[in-house]
Amino acid sequence: MQSSKTMPEAMIFDLDGVITDTAKYHFLAWKRLSDELGFSFTEQDNERLKGVSRIGSFEIILEINGASDRYSKAEKEALADRKNTYYREFVETITKQDILPGVMALLNKAKKAGIPCAVASISKNAPRILERLEIGDCFDYIADAAAVKKPKPDPEIFLNCAQALHALPQNCVAFEDAQAGIEAIHAANMASVGIGVAVTTIPPDLALRNTAELDFDAIVDFYAARQNKRREEDSGR
Ligand code: BG6
Ligand code: MG
Repeated sequence: MQSSKTMPEAMIFDLDGVITDTAKYHFLAWKRLSDELGFSFTEQDNERLKGVSRIGSFEIILEINGASDRYSKAEKEALADRKNTYYREFVETITKQDILPGVMALLNKAKKAGIPCAVASISKNAPRILERLEIGDCFDYIADAAAVKKPKPDPEIFLNCAQALHALPQNCVAFEDAQAGIEAIHAANMASVGIGVAVTTIPPDLALRNTAELDFDAIVDFYAARQNKRREEDSGR
């Protein structure tokens, strides 16, 4: 049966903070490394690392501690690798119970409606986390974090997902919890859904407090209203 509703051509999801809450594990792993190096690192500092690459995160911790020039590039990479070893210990404890509320229902409804879904995460651990969550099959495409040249807020990873799903960027809806991610979605010309986005230089098109507020029909309505508004704006030009 053909639906009369305007449906998105694709849905694109960030992983950390959208599909599962790994920020706490990133924090504990960075904290362990920081303690070993005699650095200060608080949960508030951790907010700045959301959506930031592994090495970029370490640079922020060094900057907070006035230690940006302390290590060579190779030393920084080795220390970031050490943090990743700690982080992987937590990743191995993840189960499908750790999928955030509302996510499975949304993915199932998207599948039923024939909307392809992708993961746009800059985490090199994304494939393993998806495996632990037993959710990999819900996605038609998972972007390769190692192949991303420009991190968020650059739109590269979102555009890569749209292309892989044969969808036009302006007809995609993308989900993010980090400010850099929202900026990337806007730069990609997609509709953005923010999940508890704390810092808002650019507000998401649709702001939700948490994933429990994800509702397939509400998202389709939001998308359809946005497309209508765009069409009106275009015809008024
Ligand atoms: C992002 C997280 O999704 O992935 C960041 O929000 C993290 O906190 C980044 O630094 C890179 O992750 P990983 O797993 O490759 O170290
Ligand atoms: Mg995130």
